[in-house]
Amino acid sequence: MPGPPETAPEPTIFPTFHRMSTASPPAFGFSDYIRSIEQVLDRRPSNRIIIREVSAATKRLCRDDRWLQEPFRQGNPDHYTRHLLHKDPQNRFIVLSLVWQPGQVTPIHDHACWGVMGLVDGTLEEICYDRLDDGSRPDYCELEQTRGTDVGKGGVAYLLPPYEEIHRIGNTTDRPTISLHVYGRDLDEINVFDPVTGRVSPMRIKYYSPDVGDVPFVI
Ligand SMILES: [Fe+2]
Repeated sequence: MPGPPETAPEPTIFPTFHRMSTASPPAFGFSDYIRSIEQVLDRRPSNRIIIREVSAATKRLCRDDRWLQEPFRQGNPDHYTRHLLHKDPQNRFIVLSLVWQPGQVTPIHDHACWGVMGLVDGTLEEICYDRLDDGSRPDYCELEQTRGTDVGKGGVAYLLPPYEEIHRIGNTTDRPTISLHVYGRDLDEINVFDPVTGRVSPMRIKYYSPDVGDVPFVI
């Protein structure tokens, strides 16, 4: 779950500038997207309703991706890259772009929050798992793979705790992929699962953003 509140608020980044184009701006841009999420959360609905409505907004945003600036499309040959696009001033959600070179994958991990993923460009494979044990041992788990899905441009996937939030995702294609992720908390720590040994390990995660100056970090 989230750590203690940070002492200093991080800058909020709005990648609303359009790429080098003279075409008219998208009808539904990034600031519209953020506003739509805020309006959903203002109603304090259930997580199931949140993911349904945020998924619809994410699909709409990913239909025309000119809102995403070039710095937030840059990957790294050594690991996939997480760019922070927006952090809610009330700490209710964050929005990231993730850039995946061919072959880059996450370990199996959880989130402890709702989440929605949409594809800006390319395709990602998502493999989902059920936890068979009762979670009473913080350092041990038993997992069962439930399904594997390819999510392509225009598609979305979601996380819905407590049962639908353990997965691994990765780029199994031969070209770079860019995905958009919304999480219902500042996702700075997750659990990583080893399906062979059953070991559960907490892992700190960071953003890479040229404006913020954080260092790149694998998951
Ligand atoms: Fe994830």
